Amino acid sequence: MMIMNKQINIKELLDWYIMAGVSETCGDLPCLSTENNTKNESGNKEPSPNITEPQRIKNNNFVSIALKNAKEECEKATTLDELKEILIKFDGCTLKNTAASTVLGEGCENAKIMLIGEAPGADEDKLGRPFVGRCGKLLDKMLESINIKREECYITNILPWRPPGNRTPTDEELSLCLPFLEKQIEIIKPDFILLLGKIAFKSVMDNPESISRVRGKWFEYNTENGKNIHVLATFHPSYLLRSSNQKAKVWIDLLRLKSKIAEKE
Ligand code: URA
Repeated sequence: MMIMNKQINIKELLDWYIMAGVSETCGDLPCLSTENNTKNESGNKEPSPNITEPQRIKNNNFVSIALKNAKEECEKATTLDELKEILIKFDGCTLKNTAASTVLGEGCENAKIMLIGEAPGADEDKLGRPFVGRCGKLLDKMLESINIKREECYITNILPWRPPGNRTPTDEELSLCLPFLEKQIEIIKPDFILLLGKIAFKSVMDNPESISRVRGKWFEYNTENGKNIHVLATFHPSYLLRSSNQKAKVWIDLLRLKSKIAEKE
C-alpha cells in the first residue's frame, strides 16, 4: 500500500511538472535548487551535483570500473560497425539514460579530414546523426567556403549522447567516452583533425588552455598505431551562431587548414 501511494505521488508530481512546462530532466544526481547555477564561457549550465562523500566514493569506483571496461571493449573493435555495437551495449555512462539516440560519427571511412565537436544537440539526438541542426548547417557552409564537401570528411563528437538540456559535460563523462573517440581516430586514420571548440580541444589534446589561445595553431596527435595527425582547433559553430563577429577568425583558421592540406598533397 505504501508503495502504491508512493507511485501515485510520483506520477502526480511528474504530471505537475509537465503541466508547469518542464520538458526534460537535466541530470540524475540531486541538486539544490537554491545553489548558484554557474554558467561556463559557452553559456551552458555547469552541473552542480550536491552529493555526499559516500555517494562520491561509490560514484568514483563506478567510473573507474566503467572506464576500464570502455577501454577493454574498444580495444576489440577493428571497424566502425564493431565499435558502434560495443558503444550501443556500453552502459557505463549515465548520459545514455537521458538521451534518445546514440550518435556515433558519420562520413567517409577513408577521410583525410576528421571534424570533432562536443556532443549531439537536440536535433542530433532526435535524428541520431552528428551536426544536422543549426550548428551542422553552419558547419557545412564553413566547409564549403574552403571547397570541402561534408561527405569527404568524417564528422563526430567527443560524446555520443546529448547531455540533458545541453549542459556542459562533466570530466567523468568526457573521460568515459574518450576511448570510443580514440578508436574512431585509429580506425579512420585521418591526416588532419579539426577540433571544434574548447571541450573537443581539451579532451583530444588533454590540454585545458582556452580555445581563444589555441585556435589557429597546429598541434600533433599520435595514435596508438603510430600515425601522426595534424591537429587544428577553432571556435565551435554554436559559438559563431551567438557571436558572428568571431567568424573572421574561423575563416582564417579554415584557410590555414586548406593550405596545410595543399602543402601535403
Ligand atoms: N554541437 C556539437 O558539438 N555536435 C553536434 O553534433 C551538434 C551540435
